Amino acid sequence: SLTGKEATFGTSAHEGTALAIEEINAAGGVLGKQLELLTEDNQTKAGETANAVNKLISKDGVVAILGEVASSRSMEAAPICQQNKIPMITPASTNPTVTQEGDYIFRVCFTDTFQGAALANFATGTLNAKKVAVLTDVKSDYSKGLAKSFKEKYTASGGKLGIELDFNGGDKDFKGQLTAIKGDAPDAIFLPGYYNDVALICIQAKQLGITVPIFGGDGWESESLLTIGKESMNGNYFSTHCSVEQGTPEMVAFVEGYKKKYNGKVPDAMAVLGYDSAKVLADAIKRAGSTDSAKVRDAIAATKDFSGASGKFSLNENRDAVKALVFIKIENEKFNYTAT
Ligand code: PHE
Repeated sequence: SLTGKEATFGTSAHEGTALAIEEINAAGGVLGKQLELLTEDNQTKAGETANAVNKLISKDGVVAILGEVASSRSMEAAPICQQNKIPMITPASTNPTVTQEGDYIFRVCFTDTFQGAALANFATGTLNAKKVAVLTDVKSDYSKGLAKSFKEKYTASGGKLGIELDFNGGDKDFKGQLTAIKGDAPDAIFLPGYYNDVALICIQAKQLGITVPIFGGDGWESESLLTIGKESMNGNYFSTHCSVEQGTPEMVAFVEGYKKKYNGKVPDAMAVLGYDSAKVLADAIKRAGSTDSAKVRDAIAATKDFSGASGKFSLNENRDAVKALVFIKIENEKFNYTAT
């Protein structure tokens, strides 16, 4: 998604991937050959991912697919990759069903089963919220899945669900839902959405006098959350994949390389994951000793203790990465890393 509604997702992931490919090629490539990165833009539009993936596989003959970021769009790509036996690694799609499509589908991020549980612990522990209202984007598989896993874990640990309401990603007026939420008087509001909708919702919540914390997951992470939402974002929280402040040697080296290539731009989590997805693929092709897709598939599946920029991780039997999660608090219109 290099253009359209979620353009920052695709742009960041792609910048990370391009940096990784450049580094790999500068170090001699893989199996004595240079890697070639082919890029398609689905414009954040439903249906376009399928067209792009079909073209990349049938016309361009790619060895593997890296992408998509958003779960709904990865779920368009996955059946095509599986059917054609072309390994696919999504950098950032967290909905559990994405990799369940088949044995050729992988991710280098955690799933929302894990993220939802972590957010439930955060709500009961850190926020001490006895009652949480939930506002879900029914157009997004990511939002629906994360809401579900959060609610399961939160209620299992004794939390009480307040009012539960829906919106459609791209809506502009959320006052009806927010007025109802205010009337329900929850201790906090769980909002598993994407940054552009989240920013508008937080602005309108402040206008309606809602003061309880609003919190969400990795879909919040974009510099645009702050440029749109400004001071209305302060006091809110989200979980995400990593922080550029986490200080591991791999992260420090990545941030340095990224800033150098992209005129001082500070990378976000998707840039880190886009980078790691390409590094995992290159490592697998090396270990496979071939670009034969079944061999590359087996090698990706065997990825263990990989030292990525996002952290150290292994892929489990479900082809999902097992790794840490970080919490960010928004203060003074800045993302502050609070805990891993
Ligand atoms: N996890 C989101 C999804 O599955 C995508 C995303 C990843 C958004 C990382 C922001 C940061 O749709």
